[in-house]
Amino acid sequence: MRGVAGCFRVKAPSNIALIKYMGKKDSASNLPENGSISMTLEELCTYAEIQVDLRDEDGAGAWVDEAPADAPRGVRAPGLGAAGIEKILSHLGRVRGASPDLLATFGLEPSPFASGRGGFTLRSANTFPQASGIASSASSFAAVTLAMAWACAASPSDFREVYMENVEFRRALAGISRRGSGSSCRSFEGPWVGWDGDRTLALEANLPELRHLVLVVSERAKRVSSSQAHLRIKSSPLWKGRVERAETRKATLTEALRAGDLRAVARLAWSETWEMHGLFHTAEPPFTYWEPATVELLQWFSGIMEDDVEGGDLPIVTLDAGPNPHLICPASRVEGWKARIGEKFGGIRILEDRPGAGARLISATSKDRE
Ligand code: DP6
Repeated sequence: MRGVAGCFRVKAPSNIALIKYMGKKDSASNLPENGSISMTLEELCTYAEIQVDLRDEDGAGAWVDEAPADAPRGVRAPGLGAAGIEKILSHLGRVRGASPDLLATFGLEPSPFASGRGGFTLRSANTFPQASGIASSASSFAAVTLAMAWACAASPSDFREVYMENVEFRRALAGISRRGSGSSCRSFEGPWVGWDGDRTLALEANLPELRHLVLVVSERAKRVSSSQAHLRIKSSPLWKGRVERAETRKATLTEALRAGDLRAVARLAWSETWEMHGLFHTAEPPFTYWEPATVELLQWFSGIMEDDVEGGDLPIVTLDAGPNPHLICPASRVEGWKARIGEKFGGIRILEDRPGAGARLISATSKDRE
């Protein structure tokens, strides 16, 4: 930013895990107990905008409950509560504080804003409705981390070049984003991403063109936040051996993706889903995210998995810490699945997406005067 004010706009997608991040080694930095694998999405995403004003002397940040100016029509600000705003602003303080060293490591010059001069406002908005039951923390934290890091660079165009070309830079940003919300670190690459400890890695996959569906059975807010779930599952008798099982499944899934074995991917995702929800259901005290319609859908998919007669390509079915099943299938079969689901569960709301490439920079502008 060469003027006195600047505006930085980015977009970051959500991701859906097939091997789940559930259980932390360290809550302060969101280091996971086990490695995970996810598919980055494309349209289910967060737009974020940071406006910097170097003349603002108190140096603070503020959340503005409005969508960024360039967000697509109908995309709304998430309407965060006080705790959510505090969490995101304090994360942005962490990104800003870390940025001089981080940028310097990659040969980028920090702006005066990076060293604490001036204040900022943040606007963000999700393409998925807040009430759709889709967790927004992965896309939100990835988006705001990227926007803030960009705002801290003296030259937005140099930042863009390094961001596009240097995977280590994207990994370093993912590492900072992870501190805000663990799963957000997998949204900087795509479509298939592995996360181990403090590192993320794009994975090779030889699969046909895919589509992703969310079957929205409930739009209610979660009763148990995923941060609480990460703690509570350790009280389950099934926690013993979980890390080893997840790591084994992760290694097998990595191979299945490389081999393009969709059936194996579907089987692994299915087992992993039941294992994570088994941990929820056997924790002390137990909890569930399921609604009656979740159970009906899972029962229907159980029959499909058991019969295994879907022309050889089983759908990939998984659940996050929520009630809404996600289905991933070849693009050539998505209309068929939508029709079958509509027939069986008439009226169910379906969100559709596809694999994506990860968080992207949109625009940076600077002004010499207001
Ligand atoms: C069930 O990333 O939301 O979606 O690090 O506390 O913000 P925090 O947790 P979060 O956990 C996501 C858990 C999950 C599984 C996954 O995405 O791997």
